[in-house]
Amino acid sequence: MKFVGLDIGTNYTKATPDGSKVAIFPSVVTYGEEKDWSLKGEEKDIYVGEEALTLIQSQENVEAMRPLHEGRIMSQSYMELAKHALKIMNAEPDVISTGLPVKSSKKEREELTGDVKEQLNAKALIFPEPVGTLAYMGIPTGVCVDIGFGTTDIAVLYQMEYVRGDTILMGVDWLYNNLEVMVRKNAGINVTPEELTKLITTPDYEVGRIRGGKTVKTTHKEVSAEYNKIVSNWLERIVSRTKLIIEGLSTDIVDKIVLTGGGSLLPGVFEEFTRNFEDVAKVVMPDDPVTSNTKGYYKLASVLLENEVEKVKESVKETRVLIKPEKEKKKVKVKSK
Ligand SMILES: Nc1ncnc2c1ncn2[C@@H]1O[C@H](COP(=O)(O)OP(=O)(O)OP(=O)(O)O)[C@@H](O)[C@H]1O
Ligand SMILES: [Mg+2]
Repeated sequence: MKFVGLDIGTNYTKATPDGSKVAIFPSVVTYGEEKDWSLKGEEKDIYVGEEALTLIQSQENVEAMRPLHEGRIMSQSYMELAKHALKIMNAEPDVISTGLPVKSSKKEREELTGDVKEQLNAKALIFPEPVGTLAYMGIPTGVCVDIGFGTTDIAVLYQMEYVRGDTILMGVDWLYNNLEVMVRKNAGINVTPEELTKLITTPDYEVGRIRGGKTVKTTHKEVSAEYNKIVSNWLERIVSRTKLIIEGLSTDIVDKIVLTGGGSLLPGVFEEFTRNFEDVAKVVMPDDPVTSNTKGYYKLASVLLENEVEKVKESVKETRVLIKPEKEKKKVKVKSK
């Protein structure tokens, strides 16, 4: 049975065909317009991932579709992201192991299951997002806080069973919305989330656009100054909700707090989060917080499906055992004749 791990995030789609190699691209879809010329003969109706991002960052009038917003699937084009992931991995899986926000509804899970079946001809296994990272790290009992782009998800597990959790509609997008407004006000340009990540994390990085025959730009220094002003306020809300979720839990369960999701890589986030929980538990991070959920979904699928295969083998054995006496009976009957 072939399966893949797939994490369609609000900002990045990640997928793995083997639990270690990961394909990653921005969750962006754009529809191509007919151009006067095509020098490479590469005109397409639809552009997904890096190609779509290049288009929207190089020309201001191209409209980008980002199919997910605040943990919700806003447009059917999210299936284009799934198809693109399978295409670049060259995979035709029977099972797609994936995740949704902790507080996703039953209806949303059913719809995702239906879309995966109809459009990808596969069975969907769906987990609460932070469970992917816990499984990847081999932690059956603990707390995981996943700071994603659209949502922050918290899950508490005890011996690999869900205890409680929450979804906060406050991911990196809250920070970025504020930064975007500042950049638009000061430089008069629109920046993408991908550009903001580079502006925050890369010294000397600049984003420029042409305006009325002149160049306008925004710089790492300018964006970082604003980021430093607002990051504590943002993280404080995530910290206080996490404290609310772990209130009253046994210290046996809250032995470790795992911090994951791309948001945990932003400057100062891990340090500040750790400081807030120093009296409670050790805060740890997976080796790569952006891809750990999808690797965990893969691992969960392999464990569950192996169990299923084992169960099938067991039931085959049992059937054989059941059949045997009948055959023996027949033999006896033949003998007695
Ligand atoms: N190498 C990095 N350094 C710093 N920040 C990063 C890095 N990679 C990603 N990020 C931040 O993490 C964010 C995306 O994180 P992630 O991929 O976990 O979100 P997502 O899964 O797309 O969102 P969601 O889970 O809410 O749907 C980016 O917008 C960026 O701010
Ligand atoms: Mg995510």
